[in-house]
Amino acid sequence: MLVARNGTPVRARLAGVEGYVPERVLTNAELERIVDTTDEWIVSRTGIRERHVAADDQATSDLAVEAARRLLERTGTDAADLDAVLVATTTPDHVFPPTAPLVAGRIGARSAAAVDLNAACSGFIYGLAQSTALVECGMARNVLLIGSEVLTRYVDWTDRTTCVLFGDGAGAALVSAAPPDAVDGFLGFDLGADGDLADQLTVPAGGTRAPAHTAAPEDLCIRMNGREVYKFATRIIEESARRLLERLEIGVDEIDLMVAHQANIRILEYATERLGIPEDRVFNNIDRVGNTSSASIPIALAEARDRGRLRPGDLVLMVGFGAGLTWGAAVARYEPPAAPTPDAAGPA
Ligand code: COA
Repeated sequence: MLVARNGTPVRARLAGVEGYVPERVLTNAELERIVDTTDEWIVSRTGIRERHVAADDQATSDLAVEAARRLLERTGTDAADLDAVLVATTTPDHVFPPTAPLVAGRIGARSAAAVDLNAACSGFIYGLAQSTALVECGMARNVLLIGSEVLTRYVDWTDRTTCVLFGDGAGAALVSAAPPDAVDGFLGFDLGADGDLADQLTVPAGGTRAPAHTAAPEDLCIRMNGREVYKFATRIIEESARRLLERLEIGVDEIDLMVAHQANIRILEYATERLGIPEDRVFNNIDRVGNTSSASIPIALAEARDRGRLRPGDLVLMVGFGAGLTWGAAVARYEPPAAPTPDAAGPA
């Protein structure tokens, strides 16, 4: 699905973003003591140095609530003004109830619709598209979108090919209606899926295909054909981003910041080089968070903002990819450009 925003009377904007990672840090040195691996191998093949792991009593909704509270506080938003709470997750608290109603209840979003969506590591981009659609068709004015994951509960800690990759975290974004003359907002999306490749990245059991109570423990963990996923990711980041930019008639050189799903630094460096986006216009934080699936893009966006890398008025390209295999790209103008100060505007 390729969509360019086409003059709807209301435009959806990215009104804020916040991240949260659990306190506990798991370093590569600790992994060396668990499986047959080395810090050198992990860093050179993935770029990951450490990741965060949820405490035993923390579930996906707990991480989501932390990120949501930070976002509401930062943006000065009253939870009662939220029309919808969407939680993108591939690791929900339960089969049911969904995680979003738990989050909405705890933050006091009493008049919000609340629903989960699962597009694995593309979940945040799919969620941005759905939030934008809700706002631009007039069904909502404020949508709280949270990507939240506790992937470490699905990691096989004896499998060195996967256990070094994943971490836990949550990222929250506020998608709100902007005034008609606003210059910021979402410009378009490219979303897709290739179900023929579904078996390349799975948790084989725990659903209706192989219920958890009948499953071998290892089938309740992440199983991946790393090389195939690697090939898919490097191809799809470039393809999806190019398709969307061409549709929007935006040149690669106009992109101020690219934030892609943090899965592997080699994937990211290869794809951004192919796209021709210079390093200083790409933000990565995989070295400190690992792969947090649907949480990775909002966590990275918030960090980029905090480090002064995402600035008001920036044109931002976001790209996600993951199990399904799914992908999604989005382009947004972030916040209105700052009004010129009297000095910068020159003498009156
Ligand atoms: N430590 C040490 N050695 C390891 C290892 C680890 N953690 N994991 C794998 N190896 C070994 C393999 O066993 C293999 O050894 P062998 O040649 O004796 O069989 C060797 O390293 C090379 O394995 P290979 O799978 O070819 O490595 P790679 O360079 O392809 O890197 C991944 C593996 C997983 C890092 C890489 O394929 C990848 O990042 N794929 C995409 C994964 C991803 O992003 N998934 C999520 C998408 S949302």
